[in-house]
Amino acid sequence: MNRRLLLPLVLALPMVLTACGGDDGPSIVVYNAQHEQLIEELAPAFTDETGIEVELRNGKDLELAAQLIAEGDASPADVFLTENSPAMSAVEAEGLFATLSAELTAPIPDQFKPDSGLWTGFVARSTVLVYNTDLVQEAELPDSLLDLADPEWAGRISFSPTGADFQAIVAGVLELEGEDATRAWLAGIKANGTVYDGNNVVLESVNSGESEVGIIYHYYWYRDQEESGEVSDNSALYFFGNQDPGAFVSVSGAGVLASSDHSDDARAFVEFLLSEAGQQGLADSYALEYPLNPSVQLDPPVKPFAELQPPDVDVSDLDSETVIELMTEAGFL
Ligand SMILES: [Fe+2]
Repeated sequence: MNRRLLLPLVLALPMVLTACGGDDGPSIVVYNAQHEQLIEELAPAFTDETGIEVELRNGKDLELAAQLIAEGDASPADVFLTENSPAMSAVEAEGLFATLSAELTAPIPDQFKPDSGLWTGFVARSTVLVYNTDLVQEAELPDSLLDLADPEWAGRISFSPTGADFQAIVAGVLELEGEDATRAWLAGIKANGTVYDGNNVVLESVNSGESEVGIIYHYYWYRDQEESGEVSDNSALYFFGNQDPGAFVSVSGAGVLASSDHSDDARAFVEFLLSEAGQQGLADSYALEYPLNPSVQLDPPVKPFAELQPPDVDVSDLDSETVIELMTEAGFL
């Protein structure tokens, strides 16, 4: 071919490729077990800032962890995000995460990321007791989450044991109280409680007076208050505080897969989640989960993170395997 004809063709080529499809631009695959809506709100801000497209594949904590473990090095995932950290520990234990630099995770306090540096917390949720204000007075509420296993609470409590949220709370109890006490507590709340499928249903059951109290995370109640109050106006939140197991704070985790072919872009995404911009995006979203970067706070009326008085539980120590065993033994799973 004539050189004079070839040159314009070569120059035109990249433009043509960009114009058709755009799938040669940078992009990452995120296996997402956090609430879908939250990451869908955040990802476009990251794409605007970096030009990196984000493809979300949504699922549940332990389901996506199992998928990552089954796929191993062949996984298409670049990033894994969870609702609660036990699923992160499960993937970490299989050696599937790449190390995140101390610089990258610097915005997050040490308690909310594992010593291994293989993943990091990026947002937090507080365990709370929601109570029906017509049926119970705050003064009657127990000092400890563990007291809900006592006979005086028979027929009065509710919770959603099949979800990753409740299982993380049990992991907190297990780490703080040990196996025997956790087994006894599970047997007690099984005898006393009504089981529902999902924390929103627990909230509804308390609001309608079907149950007097329910074990949930804080944001279910605050979100409903923000939206309409339809399933929360007859209820209030009780924070156990005092480092009680019932004040357990669970973190959502973020990690980069060691097998990622786009590891720089994947790291950029995690870095964005932890940055002031990303954390402010979290704080401004519908979610009302707690940012973990101390430079960003949720607005009132959400109880300030600094006032929660959570027990000192290292995220590395949560043992999801034993939780599943104990909950199966108790007849919850
Ligand atoms: Fe949740």
